[in-house]
Amino acid sequence: MDGSQVNRYRYLQAQRISGSLGAEITGVDLSRPVDDAVLAEIRAALLDHLVIFFRDQDMTPATLLAFARRFGEIHRHPFIAGMPDYPEVLELAKKPGDKRNFGGDWHTDQMFAPEPALGTMLWAKQVPEAGGDTMFANQYLAYEALSDGMKRMIAGVRGVCVGDKKKGGVSRMANNAATLGSVKTVEPPKDVQTTTAHPLVRTHPETGRKSLYIGGHVHWLEDMTEEESQPLIQYLHQHSYQPAFTCRFRWRKGSLAFWDNRCTQHFAINDYPAETRVMHRVTIRGDRPF
Ligand code: SIN
Repeated sequence: MDGSQVNRYRYLQAQRISGSLGAEITGVDLSRPVDDAVLAEIRAALLDHLVIFFRDQDMTPATLLAFARRFGEIHRHPFIAGMPDYPEVLELAKKPGDKRNFGGDWHTDQMFAPEPALGTMLWAKQVPEAGGDTMFANQYLAYEALSDGMKRMIAGVRGVCVGDKKKGGVSRMANNAATLGSVKTVEPPKDVQTTTAHPLVRTHPETGRKSLYIGGHVHWLEDMTEEESQPLIQYLHQHSYQPAFTCRFRWRKGSLAFWDNRCTQHFAINDYPAETRVMHRVTIRGDRPF
């Protein structure tokens, strides 16, 4: 969106945080039930800005879940255990001594599922004094910046997305169940599909815009070998998060981010080795990419 549309809302205000995506939203208390009219504006702001941020929200797992449910069904993560009383809410903790973090590579959520996540909400319970920021990248811009030749070449090509590192061969994804420190991992239920092919170029079901659909879950291209696929996957992946497509969010306790996985990637920065960061995360189910 351009700058002239920034304050087109009636019930909330949006302040963009970078030229490419992301806006901080004020005027909304998410700890209380949100009116339908305000909800419609939050949804519009998500579509306009791709990732939206709210500060100083006094959330509990129950209020976070209730807010997320207003946008659709909840997607249960097949590899990460939920909170004991709220299995749909993940507590993502990284403590001193944990080497790796959850989400420490460019990716879009649950891409390995046949119906990957529409959106994710992440609320900060405890944050380091400095560090632990999250970066986001606009995948509409990533697609639009490709040459016409590359757009023609990848039209109709599908990437095979693998959720389970053991099955994935050479993985660049940090979602490595065995080494996630304080994040409790589980074996996926037998009936849950964790490998799926999706188009490299997807059309957003609400905006109708095309975006590049790539991320750390893409291991090879359908009907090609991994060796044949890797150079193109690596090129597209590196292209997709170049600085001009990104924003970076600095968390405070009580901040809540809500991002659209259908047109963004994100990256959790692991730069606070001696401090603790604890986040609550809920993911909303999306539809099959086309
Ligand atoms: C995620 O990838 O969902 C986690 C992002 C973060 O912790 O900043």
